[in-house]
Formats: sequence, C-alpha cells, structure tokens
Amino acid sequence: MFAQIAVGIVGGFLVWAYLSMKPAPPKICGSPDGPPVTSPRVKLSDGRYLAYKEAGVSKEQAKYKIILIHGFDSSKDMILPISQDLINELQIYLLSFDRAGYGESDPYPKRSVKTEAYDIQELADKLHIGPKFHIFGISMGAYPVWGCLKYIPHRLSGVALVVPFVHYWWPCLPAELSKHSLRKLLVQDQWVFRVAHYTPWLLNWWMTQKWFPSLSIMEGKTDILSSQDLEILKQLSGVLNDGQEKVRQQGLYESLYRDILAGYVQWEFDPTDIADPFPNKEGSVHLWQGYEDRIIPFEINRYISEKLPWIRYHEVPDAGHLLTFNGSLCESIVRELLTA
Ligand SMILES: *[C@@H]1O[C@H](CO)[C@@H](O)[C@H](O)[C@H]1NC(C)=O
Repeated sequence: MFAQIAVGIVGGFLVWAYLSMKPAPPKICGSPDGPPVTSPRVKLSDGRYLAYKEAGVSKEQAKYKIILIHGFDSSKDMILPISQDLINELQIYLLSFDRAGYGESDPYPKRSVKTEAYDIQELADKLHIGPKFHIFGISMGAYPVWGCLKYIPHRLSGVALVVPFVHYWWPCLPAELSKHSLRKLLVQDQWVFRVAHYTPWLLNWWMTQKWFPSLSIMEGKTDILSSQDLEILKQLSGVLNDGQEKVRQQGLYESLYRDILAGYVQWEFDPTDIADPFPNKEGSVHLWQGYEDRIIPFEINRYISEKLPWIRYHEVPDAGHLLTFNGSLCESIVRELLTA
C-alpha cells in the first residue's frame, strides 16, 4: 500500500516536472491559430521564413549596406538613432530582420551561433544585396556576429560588435575573469545563465517557475541599468518599443529562451580562435563597450580585444548598456564602421 502511494506520488511529480520543463508549442506566424504576417519575408532553403525591413537609401543606390542584428527581446523594428543626413551623406542601406523565433520569423529549434550566421548570409543572398556587406550586432545580437566572423568572414566588409554579449564559459577566458565578471551580475541573472549553460533542458521550467526570481530584465527591474541608461530610457520612452508587441508573439520559448540557450550552450569555437577577417586591411572590426554597462561587464570584452589585435576596441567611459540609443554615439559607431 505504502509503496503504491509512494510510486503514485513520485509518478505524479515526474509528470508535473516533465510538463513544466516542456515548453508550450509556438504560435507560428501565418498559421491558422497564429499571428498574421504583416511584413515582407524571405523563404530560406530549409523552408523557414525570415521577416525583414529595409531602410535608408535603396540597395541599388547604396554605397554601404549594413545588416542590423537585434538584441534580446527586440526585433527588426528596433530604431537605430542615426540622422537622415548621415544616411544621405554615406548612402547607407539598412537591412534588419527578425532573428529566428522573434517577431514574424519562424522558430528554429536548431538555432545556434552557426545557424544565425547562415541565416544572415541567406537573407543577404535572397535579397541580392551583393557579395559583401557590413554587420552591426547589438548586445545578444553579437553572438550571430561571432558566428559570421567564424563561418562567413569572406562575406563581410566590416563589423561592429556593439555592447556585445559575452559567454562566461568561453574556454579562452581565464577562470578568475569569468567568475568575477559573472558575479558582478544580479544573482538571479547569474542563475539563468548557469541553468542555460549546464542544464539547458531545465531552462523552460526555470524561467516559468515562481519560487525563485529568473531574468531580472523580464521582471522589469531597473537595477541593472546605469544612470546613463535610465537617462536614455527617459528620453526615448515609447520610441524604443516600436513594434514591441510582436517581438514575443510566437511564444516566449522560441523567441527569448531559445536565444539564451543558443548563446550560452557550449560553442564549437572560441572567439580567440578566429583569424583576422581583413588581413589586407580591406575592412575593420570594432567593438564598442560602455564602462558603466551593468548587463555586459566590460572586463571580458576588454580582454578579448587585447587577445585579438585586429579588433578596434572603443570603451566609452560614461556610457552604459544602452549606448546604441544615444544618437551622437550611434552616429560615431556607424561612421567608424564604414569609414575608419
Ligand atoms: C550621449 O553621448 C554623448 C557623447 O559621449 C554624451 O556627451 C551625452 O551625455 C550622452 N547622452 C546621454 C543621454 O547619455
């Protein structure tokens, strides 16, 4: 009798645990129960759709073509605060897209550093923007940039890693540096990244359970913003969230959690293994980091830049994680990327 009850309890617990670990199925855009398709999309060779947005001058007329890679919980509708004057002066064509699972792009359970790079290449080819293009990756959108540097360097004319994502388990990092940098984050955020890295199958449960706090940014906590970030948020209130209602519409798992997983699983390579993509100085790679950034601790990006002398490291003393949204800084970043 006792054994039967015990088996029942354990069995019930396992079923509950299994159900809460298993993510809800995504609501695919354009499917009968899913959100509508409202943006142009390209069909990739594996049948998935990627939604995109073009801005600036036309691609035929452009002197420079930039593919913008958005960060966590963002989309192709993010605003890059650069003036029309700069766009006209440098004849810039801007292409942004919803990374797989975000907005109106199909989810991709195999999403990784590598697949994101090949998605970018295929998008460029489907839109015929030419053999080479610039890439501009922001925050979490930097792991696709590392993927491009590794897998499609011959397609790049220049690279900007802006407040780029860091991986606390890159083997190239000294253990002390990783540990120290990870511990600068809020404890609840440290645990999200640890769960994603060590027990990815548990992440859905971790993000949905109510016993422990999970990712601070999703709880609307502002502890992780610097005073400069708060200033920028105040100035941009409303503008920053253009199209925000569509970002997670296909489900949290395939948009946000999958992004964390793709970033924090074990990589196939280390950034420090990457060779200079421009040995003949035909382009440049820039890394922009705010010293006051509390989401991405500067120490790791500074270290990587020291190890890779072909990266031009720009550390902005009084800027935080949202430095991309400071118009004057953003213009400097674009100008450096294209002309320096
Ligand atoms: C934007 O950047 C400029 C140049 O670094 C700085 O002077 C200005 O204070 C910044 N603005 C905000 C709101 O942080």
